[in-house]
Amino acid sequence: MASIALIALSCVAAAQAAVVAPRAASISEFSASPVEFTYPTPRSGFLVNNATTYPCGGLPVGDRTAYPLSGGKVSLDIDTLAANVNLLYANSSDPKTFHEFSTFANTLLDVSEGGWCGEGPDFGELGLSAGSDVTLLAIYQLYGNKTYFYHCADINLVEDNSYTAPNNFACSNSSAVLETASGEDSMVLKGSNFSAAQEGVDGQTVSIDLAAATAAVSSTASGSASASADASATSAATSAGASGSANSGAGVSAKVGGTGLAAALIGGLALLL
Ligand SMILES: *[C@@H]1O[C@H](CO)[C@@H](O)[C@H](O)[C@H]1NC(C)=O
Ligand SMILES: *[C@@H]1O[C@H](CO)[C@@H](O)[C@H](O)[C@H]1NC(C)=O
Ligand SMILES: *[C@@H]1O[C@H](CO)[C@@H](O)[C@H](O)[C@H]1NC(C)=O
Ligand SMILES: *[C@@H]1O[C@H](CO)[C@@H](O)[C@H](O)[C@H]1NC(C)=O
Ligand SMILES: *[C@@H]1O[C@H](CO)[C@@H](O)[C@H](O)[C@H]1NC(C)=O
Repeated sequence: MASIALIALSCVAAAQAAVVAPRAASISEFSASPVEFTYPTPRSGFLVNNATTYPCGGLPVGDRTAYPLSGGKVSLDIDTLAANVNLLYANSSDPKTFHEFSTFANTLLDVSEGGWCGEGPDFGELGLSAGSDVTLLAIYQLYGNKTYFYHCADINLVEDNSYTAPNNFACSNSSAVLETASGEDSMVLKGSNFSAAQEGVDGQTVSIDLAAATAAVSSTASGSASASADASATSAATSAGASGSANSGAGVSAKVGGTGLAAALIGGLALLL
């Protein structure tokens, strides 16, 4: 009896050890972006050595998905434990700089393998019109490494009443670990092309001068292109955290692998048990 109980206990201990020690993957293990748009269709190809190249991982503009002015969904396929996933858009058919982009969703602090689906931007409310080309961007880190990777999808806006969602489109979240930051703790970027008319109606007023951040970094003129992309993304993330709210001084990047993940994993474990 006692030994059966002991075996059961050690199984629980082993399960806990397995769950609380997430593996940090390397980008080189993947043949496609490990955080990838499943809708709208992403740019095709994946250049593992250029995945850190802003704004779109070194990939040229691809086929455009017709996308509604409002009510569109964005879905992602996640292949490994990812951190600080942020979704952005640029009112541009071929943005050349990261700082043209603005965020449109709360930061996914930690998300494990599975599918994620949420609301796309309300482009009508943002002042864009049917016929415009827009570029969507997902930036993300792999758990345990603060390097940001860049992945894009190209869309063309259409009136809501001439939009048809793809057949069998299922919008759901299926990751065992999904921790989403609150609005005030999320990375909030408003790109250089973001106008006053595009201020959200939800009262978010955190504004990052990414153009200045990027200029400051480029003026040091010694780093490689990817180093300055990392630096600007990191400095943006840091300022977003710093100015987001008085009581969240830890900031966005400080949450990677911190208590956020532990809490999410413990939550997941509680469900498993
Ligand atoms: C990929 O990166 C290499 C090295 O930085 C660079 O020479 C090459 O032009 C890049 N390719 C693309 C398509 O960006
Ligand atoms: C966005 O701003 C940059 C300069 O900050 C400008 O060169 C570019 O043309 C703008 N793009 C659009 C779509 O307005
Ligand atoms: C979107 O970009 C187009 C083309 O550059 C520009 O005419 C328009 O003013 C932009 N819209 C907004 C809301 O910034
Ligand atoms: C983090 O990822 C980058 C890009 O893949 C890589 O060059 C670097 O070696 C990684 N750092 C660590 C500590 O694994
Ligand atoms: C998925 O999670 C996000 C938060 O990360 C939430 O906004 C969204 O509504 C969820 N999607 C579904 C289909 O419940």
